Amino acid sequence: MVDIDPWSSDVSTDYDRIIQQFGLSSVPLAEIPNPSLHHRRDIIFAHRDLGNILQAHARGDSFGVMTGLMPSGQMHLGHKMVIDQVRWFQEQGADVTIAVADLEANATRGYSLAECRRLALEEYVANYVAMGLDPEKTQIYFQSSRPIVQRMGFTLGKRTNLSEFEAIYGFQGDTNLAHVQAPLVQAGDILHPQLEEYGGLRPIVVPVGVDQDPHLRLCRGLAGKTNWFNVIERKNGGLRITVSVMVENQSIVAADKSSTAAIFTQIIDAVKTLGYGDIMADAKHGIVDLPAATPKDRYPVRMALLTLERSLGGPGLLQPSSTYHRFAVGMTGGKMSSSKPETTIFLNESLDKMEKKFKRSFSGGQSTVEEHRRIGGNPDVDVAFQYLLFFFEEDDAALEEIRRAYVSGDLLSGELKAITIEKARAWLTELGEMRDQNAHLINQFLADDAQN
Ligand code: TRP
Repeated sequence: MVDIDPWSSDVSTDYDRIIQQFGLSSVPLAEIPNPSLHHRRDIIFAHRDLGNILQAHARGDSFGVMTGLMPSGQMHLGHKMVIDQVRWFQEQGADVTIAVADLEANATRGYSLAECRRLALEEYVANYVAMGLDPEKTQIYFQSSRPIVQRMGFTLGKRTNLSEFEAIYGFQGDTNLAHVQAPLVQAGDILHPQLEEYGGLRPIVVPVGVDQDPHLRLCRGLAGKTNWFNVIERKNGGLRITVSVMVENQSIVAADKSSTAAIFTQIIDAVKTLGYGDIMADAKHGIVDLPAATPKDRYPVRMALLTLERSLGGPGLLQPSSTYHRFAVGMTGGKMSSSKPETTIFLNESLDKMEKKFKRSFSGGQSTVEEHRRIGGNPDVDVAFQYLLFFFEEDDAALEEIRRAYVSGDLLSGELKAITIEKARAWLTELGEMRDQNAHLINQFLADDAQN
């Protein structure tokens, strides 16, 4: 049993088991448009419902990407991974929503809201700007000044209970309730961009490290439980639509025979407009079957039904999509962690410090030059190589050449470190320049409700 705890820095790296145990899917590289370095190198190794995003992209429909940050401390390479992914989705056409989780940081870490604001702008948004997010397609907001996310968290709370929190997060009797509220508000963060006011119904993807999957599982469960209509795959092929009768909709979907029949007519009309001729409706059992539909049709069918649900007064929330990345090894060979500065590079690190960290970093080389020439180095555990792979060498062919030279013993550890240091130096220098040059754009990233 692999346990994932989003609050622990001790993350299991048994990725295959994680995929299996939590029902994630592998990333279909051939279907990714303009695959990034993360896709090409299998760093983004799994997803849930990424197909919704890919289909929206292929059809020219709108889609969004969502992330959030707890403003606590300094940004480092681990954060860069997420922002690079957000930027990639933005380049593919996504609108971007970013939550500053100031309520969460206030409740769980004791930061004041004013401190959160200062840190968020000076440290986080400044680096987002520098890393090339487009201010015109990015909306940053504070949890504390967007009451709808708090209200959604509250409302969604009735779809879960303490047993589920115990199962997902391992919470117990002594768990502080701030840790119960934070994931609910975060579900509000993730789902609210679908509200009409924030862009309307569209798929939203949340790129995360695999440690954050518990939050996504919770959020998807909560969203799914609000759905009036469900779409499942039939055992013998095709799709099946079922109606969920719940307190919120029973007067509309199941008041009497004629209201149930009217709902079925609307479901059939909704799927007919998608072009399905073969529709088998069984109102008595609350089922509509589409025997000719394929698994890929699930997305348009679901969207049509969520639209219908909204027209009937329901929330019409699509479960969020998510992608999962592997973690780069920490510089000392263990985990990367912001609380251990020697394990990572900060985005405002001095060049000297960066160089020192790499010089001291864990190496996959042999202890003597003779031995290294004879046996070669191990790039899989070598920090300098891994950081080229994860962060600094965009060119796959160049990376492969370095790998070969290292494995064969032609390239020494010190030489490999020098290559990585040069790349990191160029990156840090440019990032600093971009931060200075673009500081004036910070306010353009803030949503209206975040402008003080
Ligand atoms: N809980 C996240 C963290 O600890 C921050 C966060 C809040 C978040 N809302 C979010 C992340 C929505 C992704 C999506 O950093």
